[in-house]
Amino acid sequence: MNALAPLLEFLAIPSVSTDPAHKEDVRRAALWLSERLRALGFTTELHETPLHPILYAERLVDPKAPTVLVYGHYDVQPPDPLGLWTTPPFEPTVREGKVFARGASDDKGQLWAHVAALEGLEARVNLKFLVEGEEEIGSPHLLPFVRAHREKLRADVVLISDGAMFAPETPTLTYGLRGLTYLEVRLKGARRDLHSGAFGGVAPNPIQALGWILARLKEEGTGQVLIPGFYDRVRPVSEEERRLWPALDEEALRRELGVEVLPGEAGYTPLERLWARPTLDPNGVWGGYQGEGSKTVIPAEAGMKLSMRLVPDQDPEEVAELAERYLQEICPPGYRLEVVRLHGGRPVLTDPFSPPMRLMARALEEVWGRPPVYAREGGTIPVVAELQEALSAPVVLLGLGLNDDNLHAPNEKFDLVNLEKGIATLRRFHQLLAAQGLGHS
Ligand code: BES
Ligand code: MN
Ligand code: MN
Repeated sequence: MNALAPLLEFLAIPSVSTDPAHKEDVRRAALWLSERLRALGFTTELHETPLHPILYAERLVDPKAPTVLVYGHYDVQPPDPLGLWTTPPFEPTVREGKVFARGASDDKGQLWAHVAALEGLEARVNLKFLVEGEEEIGSPHLLPFVRAHREKLRADVVLISDGAMFAPETPTLTYGLRGLTYLEVRLKGARRDLHSGAFGGVAPNPIQALGWILARLKEEGTGQVLIPGFYDRVRPVSEEERRLWPALDEEALRRELGVEVLPGEAGYTPLERLWARPTLDPNGVWGGYQGEGSKTVIPAEAGMKLSMRLVPDQDPEEVAELAERYLQEICPPGYRLEVVRLHGGRPVLTDPFSPPMRLMARALEEVWGRPPVYAREGGTIPVVAELQEALSAPVVLLGLGLNDDNLHAPNEKFDLVNLEKGIATLRRFHQLLAAQGLGHS
């Protein structure tokens, strides 16, 4: 496959957006992609931001032809823990029909499918690419960029591949994403670390207090989040939507995760809990002595990272307010609690049967030999809600990855079949779009 060699080059660039040591590499990835798009006849602009550049490229052929805006991200997550990779994260390697590398699925491989699809393609479609290097850190500079450049970005459809298919060999159209509120919580007791014998009995222990706080965030029996107002704006799932959902193989999911139960909010199916219910999860906790052996100490500080996945119509800022207020309220006397808001993203819901979704459904069926299933996903892509709103254009989420791609984990991979069929699907989409436009049919 001649789309593979360039992808391996792209994947070899360690564009880790969160790590200042890789700032130049992130830029190199943007420039690499920019060159590829130029070779396909695009004009490209690199927009500098206080952190990583935004790449905008366009190839406009006819003002009367439909316009497609493709979004993707060229930054990747840190590769740690390095010791668990079979082959190094930035030495892309093909094994058993899969390419292994950090970013293989999230999102370089999927983004690359959109570029490779244009090779030698004859279709009268105007194309725009909007590619950022800050998705994995919450898209801080892309959100204002989109608001400021509505005209430039205007399109009839927004195309995004940065997610997964519902199951292998199951073409999938995604019409919903969860949002996110991410907080860091710091809890302080005494002014300094204390000998646990000399002061134990009179000293506040922030680790203990953190435990009390954690226990009051979610109810043990029901898995319900106890933050007042948390569920107020959650939109219930209609019967009609539920009928659209494919069946989840719970047994396969348990096996995949190596667990015996799938714990979650009582009264909802696992699929609803993944797609249409909000969650709260501590993502990290710290405090006190973590080294070898023992150390008798009462730490002055403890803390945690706390993320909440949101669904329509919850608002990340509003949920952050509610959470902060509640955390302060349940903070035991004698402790100081500080909350730092890390990042967020709004949830998304789109029309599964919009004209471009119907067109993509046809392209998928032609290429995969079966019609797509309709799914939501639990992850977050912060700019999607912004694009949908600022451009008032329908969004098509075409996940090309698989749920076992190891996103953000060691041994991330992308199946080459998905790359190949993804490319074929996108080519077909552009041809259908050029031939019949987006008139309702
Ligand atoms: N591509 C993912 C989002 C995703 C994951 C969508 C799985 C569908 C299924 C994206 O790169 C990502 O990791 N997003 C972060 C958002 C955050 C850093 C603001 C996430 O969801 O944690
Ligand atoms: Mn991604
Ligand atoms: Mn990601």
